[in-house]
Amino acid sequence: MEGHGWIQKKGLWANLMVVVIISLSEMEGVRGRNPVLHRVGGGRYTWAPNINFTQWASHEVFYVGDWLYFGFDKHHYNVLQVNKTSYDACEDKDFIANITRGGRDVYNLTQAKPYYFLSGRGGCSQGMKLAISVKEAPLPDRTLPHTHILPKTNGCSPLSLACSAHVNDPVFGAAFFVFLSLVFMS
Ligand SMILES: *[C@@H]1O[C@H](CO)[C@@H](O)[C@H](O)[C@H]1NC(C)=O
Ligand SMILES: *[C@@H]1O[C@H](CO)[C@@H](O)[C@H](O)[C@H]1NC(C)=O
Ligand SMILES: *[C@@H]1O[C@H](CO)[C@@H](O)[C@H](O)[C@H]1NC(C)=O
Ligand SMILES: *[C@@H]1O[C@H](CO)[C@@H](O)[C@H](O)[C@H]1NC(C)=O
Repeated sequence: MEGHGWIQKKGLWANLMVVVIISLSEMEGVRGRNPVLHRVGGGRYTWAPNINFTQWASHEVFYVGDWLYFGFDKHHYNVLQVNKTSYDACEDKDFIANITRGGRDVYNLTQAKPYYFLSGRGGCSQGMKLAISVKEAPLPDRTLPHTHILPKTNGCSPLSLACSAHVNDPVFGAAFFVFLSLVFMS
């Protein structure tokens, strides 16, 4: 009976390994692609005067496929995409694109390049100008879970598995370690 139980447990482990490998691969893939919506200024209606957008942008990382969200009072301000010359000079004529719609407007960052935005109607001179640099989206790294985890499944070592997960994602790794400990001890 005891031997039978052990075999069942090994079977469970084998299934678990497959699940782990698949879900880690999927997580890598998802993390490489999921677009992020960046709320310009940090809030719902923060495309507004007297906010330091340089400071806000310095805490964000923008990737191709991400979105900007501009929430603002459309009766007083607007959102125009301009070139660097116009950005530096707060010049709102001859803009590249007018992004203004209803005041809760999104903009798709489709290229890896610098983007410049400002508000006309006097907004720019009150600080409503934004310069960002958009990076190429990171490629999903599907090799990582396989090279790090597969060789260790022979020894069936839950600790090394948890370690790999931990390196990839601290929160997931910690939660997964607890999960593995519970399964292993039961
Ligand atoms: C905005 O913040 C940046 C970086 O923190 C700083 O260099 C700059 O002087 C600030 N601009 C204004 C208008 O306060
Ligand atoms: C936004 O950009 C992404 C990536 O470039 C693209 O796949 C998507 O179709 C775009 N969406 C719209 C509505 O333009
Ligand atoms: C930026 O746009 C302005 C207005 O259209 C134009 O005069 C200027 O040459 C442009 N600058 C660059 C670097 O493209
Ligand atoms: C930008 O577009 C909005 C909405 O279509 C329009 O009301 C506004 O006049 C435009 N602004 C400029 C400067 O062209």
